[in-house]
Amino acid sequence: MHWKSQENELALVKQATDCLILTDQQLCAISDSLSHEISAALAGPVDNSLHVYPTFISQVPDGCERGKYLALDLGGTNFRVLLIHLKGNRHSSVLNETYSISQELMQGHGQELFDYIALCLFNFVRAQGLLGQRLLLGFTFSFPCTQTSLRQAVLTKWTKGFSCADTVGQEIGQMLNRAIGKHQHLQIEVAAIVNDTTGTLISCAYQETDCRMGVIVGMCEQQRLCLNNDTGYFLGTGVNICYMETTCFDKQMIVNTELGAFGSGNKCLDFMRTEWDLRLDRHSINTGHQLFEKMVSGMYLGELVRLVVTDLVHRGILDSKVFALFSEPNCFITSYISQVEQDPEDSVTWENTRALLHSLGVLSPSAIDCKCLHLICTRISRRSAHLTSAVISSLLRRMSRARTVIGVDGSVYRCHPHYKTVMKDKISQLLQRLHCGHLEFRLMLSQDGSGRGAALVSALPLSEQSGPVSKCSRCREYDGLSGELDCRVCAVTA
Ligand code: GLC
Repeated sequence: MHWKSQENELALVKQATDCLILTDQQLCAISDSLSHEISAALAGPVDNSLHVYPTFISQVPDGCERGKYLALDLGGTNFRVLLIHLKGNRHSSVLNETYSISQELMQGHGQELFDYIALCLFNFVRAQGLLGQRLLLGFTFSFPCTQTSLRQAVLTKWTKGFSCADTVGQEIGQMLNRAIGKHQHLQIEVAAIVNDTTGTLISCAYQETDCRMGVIVGMCEQQRLCLNNDTGYFLGTGVNICYMETTCFDKQMIVNTELGAFGSGNKCLDFMRTEWDLRLDRHSINTGHQLFEKMVSGMYLGELVRLVVTDLVHRGILDSKVFALFSEPNCFITSYISQVEQDPEDSVTWENTRALLHSLGVLSPSAIDCKCLHLICTRISRRSAHLTSAVISSLLRRMSRARTVIGVDGSVYRCHPHYKTVMKDKISQLLQRLHCGHLEFRLMLSQDGSGRGAALVSALPLSEQSGPVSKCSRCREYDGLSGELDCRVCAVTA
């Protein structure tokens, strides 16, 4: 292609993807929408608002916690059993084993899933020579749950490919205890059930006393297999945040926002959803749900890039011969975005982009082909990082703490070359615009938070943690937050 028409190709790609750029004004509007959603949800959820979940954890560790604790971590197609030794000086050591969960278990009978988990736990405890020893266990169960106490959690819905139908509405702690009870020599007590975001917050707070927020920006399971990290394990497939809420309860409490669902009920994000977002949602297994997650999480970013590329090929802007391979759904996985963005935007050689396209069967991509793909990847990943920044700024403003450490985990945050820097800069800019420039924050990468965190919660003084904030006069079980009619246990079991 002649260089002039190549430059034209780039200009057209830029123009067509401008809709992916969000201005600071739009991001501040998103922060404001989230503030309203959170306040409404805490006052008692209505059908089309976000549902947020109190965790019954009202303090963070002080670093002096000691002892050996077990943890289970279930949030995707792998799950782990961990033995954590807390040494009392902000240090801990961890032994862990990863087990896979088959498709049949993910979609079968709920109790069979829990029986399998208990069997793996039994094998692990036996291998560690701990059979017969009384141990407390923290369970990281990363799905939306209504907690009735620290150790009781009722599953609201499955996400991330799980669909054991007889589990929704059931109490997860009970199902696990029932399964553990089948093994005579397992002397294990389920002390806490937590979300992966809570685990992240708590494990970071073990090292940094100012940590009050936990964030996961994850990636899909299949993609984990394409990457290597030192633990061989990648956390989280979705997007979610928890934070310490101080105004709504008698005492402060960590709240799981289940933020992946933001914008799904009241359509407050519809103004920025593009044709590609709508298409991705239409072809997903949960159309109309988890709309924020679908613009942010690694489970979807690669597919969004693919949808943009195929659309631009269809419109005659991109070369159909070069980008023919993009016609296969889900063929462009999110880790490819990281690989493309390893090249600087003014690259001459396009080393990484070329290597990727070669490996996918495109033998001689031009510099402009590489540049166009780079631009699309950058715009999709920036939009994700900016949206994450908008919701974090909103919660920082809500907490209004002079200094907050934010524990973050998830493969997108870990593996993307610029995500962290983009987030850091954007949060600062948005805080300024929200008149909160005086609030200091620091992003802290969590080290295996989802496992360590559950163990740490088990180590916190139970008197502080386990009881409901106030009882519902109808079911006599649960904190109704602001009265009987809002009691979520009644709502779930009604
Ligand atoms: C999904 C789950 C949520 C979890 C997040 C990250 O959004 O619903 O509970 O925290 O993924 O794993």
